[in-house]
Amino acid sequence: MSNSGKLTVLVTGAGGRTGQIAYKKLKERSDQYITRGLARTPESKEKIGGEDDVYVGDVRDRESIVSSIQGIDALIILTSAVPKMKPGFDPAKGGRPEFYFEDGAFPEQVDWIGQKNQIDAAKAAGVKHIVLVGSMGGTNPNHPLNSLGNGNILIWKRKAEQYLADSGIPYTLIRAGGLQDKEGGLRELIAGKDDELLNTDARTIPRADVAEVCLQSLNFEEAKFKAFDLTSKPEGSGTPTTDFKALFTQITARF
Ligand SMILES: NC(=O)c1ccc[n+]([C@@H]2O[C@H](COP(=O)([O-])OP(=O)(O)OC[C@H]3O[C@@H](n4cnc5c(N)ncnc54)[C@H](OP(=O)(O)O)[C@@H]3O)[C@@H](O)[C@H]2O)c1
Repeated sequence: MSNSGKLTVLVTGAGGRTGQIAYKKLKERSDQYITRGLARTPESKEKIGGEDDVYVGDVRDRESIVSSIQGIDALIILTSAVPKMKPGFDPAKGGRPEFYFEDGAFPEQVDWIGQKNQIDAAKAAGVKHIVLVGSMGGTNPNHPLNSLGNGNILIWKRKAEQYLADSGIPYTLIRAGGLQDKEGGLRELIAGKDDELLNTDARTIPRADVAEVCLQSLNFEEAKFKAFDLTSKPEGSGTPTTDFKALFTQITARF
């Protein structure tokens, strides 16, 4: 913590869809946080405003991210391999689009090596809390997402989650349900475990709510050494979550 009593927090994947919300929320709470972002490219940095607090680095190359991690109190990991749609898909003709990962940017490289690099660099820098956003579905090795682009994405993400849980660094592991680009703060959030929520109607969550839970987890000891699935009730049913301490307290699983 800085002399000002503020936490210095780095969001990686800051140019991503959830990452840019988390970065913005941290900056809006400048009374509590000194914000840093990590973007993959100068173009991603520009997309989120291009300010000096955004570092550029590639998580597959540990040396390129060390300076962004030096001196931070907490790290929020929001990087991910991103599947691309093969050209030629015509929705009018029906069928399903096919996806691929670019050479060198498969989940093994980005979600496993890239997250391991972030965790290792954070450990070396004495970071006190890592918040990692993973995905639900990881309990089933045959989950259809694993065949997407032959990437085994959930398998590599889960390997990184395990690495974090074994790292000794206080962590919060958030396995999100299907992400939606909808307004945050309007829904009752649900924390679960072992993908049990996939058997219910509550399987999705706005990206803005995931970003909020990332920030809230920085504020409560109850969020540390915890792993949980995170979804939401549909808007209009349930009571919008405001008591995040209670949300974290009810979670008992460490992985
Ligand atoms: N989509 C879903 O329904 C779903 C469900 C559950 C969980 N999740 C997980 O939730 C998290 C957030 O998802 P999202 O859709 O908001 O993310 P997203 O928009 O796909 O963003 C991913 C970010 O990772 C960055 N990145 C990729 N490779 C990198 C590298 N080598 N070095 C540095 N940065 C790199 C990208 O940078 P650029 O912007 O420069 O490309 C991008 O900013 C992800 O882990 C995702 O897998 C998604």
